[in-house]
Amino acid sequence: LGYDRQVELFLDPDDARSQKVQLYEQLRSAIVEGRLTPGDRLTPSRIVAADLRISRATVTEAYGRLGAEGYIEGRSGGGSRVSAAPRQVRPRSRVAALQPTRRAAGIEPYALDPTAEVAFDFRPGHLDPGLFPVAAWRRCVVRTLNRPPGSYDDPRGTPELRAALASWVARSRGVAAMPEDTVVTSGAGQAIDLVARVVADPGATVAVEEPGYPPVLSLLRSQGLRVVGVPVDDHGIVVEAIPPRARLVYVTPSHQYPLGMVMGRRRRLELLQWAARSGAAIVEDDYDSEFRHTARPLEPLQLLDRDGRVIYVGTFSKSLSAGLRVGFLVAPRTLLPALCAVRQAVDWCPPPATQRALTHFIVDGYLDQHLRRTRRSYAKRHRLMREALDHYLPTGYRRLPAEAGLHVTATGPADPADPDLAATLRQHGLLMSSLRRTYAFSPPAAGLLLGYAGLPTTAVVPAVRALGSALAGSDHPGGAP
Ligand SMILES: Cc1ncc(COP(=O)(O)O)c(C=O)c1O
Repeated sequence: LGYDRQVELFLDPDDARSQKVQLYEQLRSAIVEGRLTPGDRLTPSRIVAADLRISRATVTEAYGRLGAEGYIEGRSGGGSRVSAAPRQVRPRSRVAALQPTRRAAGIEPYALDPTAEVAFDFRPGHLDPGLFPVAAWRRCVVRTLNRPPGSYDDPRGTPELRAALASWVARSRGVAAMPEDTVVTSGAGQAIDLVARVVADPGATVAVEEPGYPPVLSLLRSQGLRVVGVPVDDHGIVVEAIPPRARLVYVTPSHQYPLGMVMGRRRRLELLQWAARSGAAIVEDDYDSEFRHTARPLEPLQLLDRDGRVIYVGTFSKSLSAGLRVGFLVAPRTLLPALCAVRQAVDWCPPPATQRALTHFIVDGYLDQHLRRTRRSYAKRHRLMREALDHYLPTGYRRLPAEAGLHVTATGPADPADPDLAATLRQHGLLMSSLRRTYAFSPPAAGLLLGYAGLPTTAVVPAVRALGSALAGSDHPGGAP
């Protein structure tokens, strides 16, 4: 790495061992446990002696013993270095006194580890790195570099970014947003986390869509909330099935995750009326609304809301990059003081430098430009994906309609006893999410979530062809097309 690892040395005046032995044993442990590796230079004895306020002879004697035993070797002019002799590294065994709570241990990790040979990556949530506007983003980042990163700042985010976001989301989505009601967050995930902390106490009941987005279920459960899954039909969440005592309902109205339908206007109004009667909050996750291919956009719940019950959540994870970790929420004014105080307690504020770069990116028109370009590209991939699925999916599988977003869901095969298909397909180098994993409260349907944003346009048809062959060849009912 171009620098030498150093270990901090300690001397304990109450230790019965001599100072020399203490130094020798600490350094030997560091070498044996791999904290110091061959070639690392030891701190010169003169400096160690000065730092620890001991005689230099004590240090040179400790070094001498390490040298005599072959742990280190002296080099002319280069001081002592850890010797290159092969040595069995024995990492210090980790004693496991602490265990997570049952609740924390029950949270399932979500990430899919890519296998070594990935032929085609259909994972929803993955974008084509080739479409990221590297030059424009670099220009925006460079403009932030001529000043220090900043200090503890406004927990809602900088006023400039909040103003840019409020005006952008009002213009592009019709959300009734003012800068003072807008909070910049670390992705949609943190926005949902903050809202839940502010409107529901541990033990309270909250409702999510079933099937739904697993990370949100995990985060609500990790807060000690009682999460209830509410079925969805062709129009979205089934309002009469929401428990009357639910304090919060999490929904994805513009593109239900994972099934893809759009919540109809009548259903939106019904949900708002239910929330008014029961006093609950509604979290509207508009995670991929920037991409709609056939449907005309419907008014967000947040705009239809007349009495301040809807918290609108947006993210840049699909529209720009998930690695930026930037999202935002627009909340009723009554919640803002508590949202700010909790945000400050958790991690104080969003990183000011990222916020400044993103502000330039929005205000200078790069975001609109990028979205025009990616919308064209993703619309084409969406069309190719639909056509290819209709052609290559074996019988027994069915593509669900998807009018928006960046993935298509296919159900099948019909036999519920089938093993997890996504795991089988991974062995063919095909990465995707499993529909089964999105069910947490009821018997799951088998199927696949096929993202097309991470597949270059020219790869879409070959990828679906490979999927079709893998499905036809696997031991599932249905067979070849
Ligand atoms: C339903 C849903 N909400 C939100 C997100 C994005 O979350 P974040 O902004 O925390 O990356 C995703 C990403 O795949 C999603 O599928």
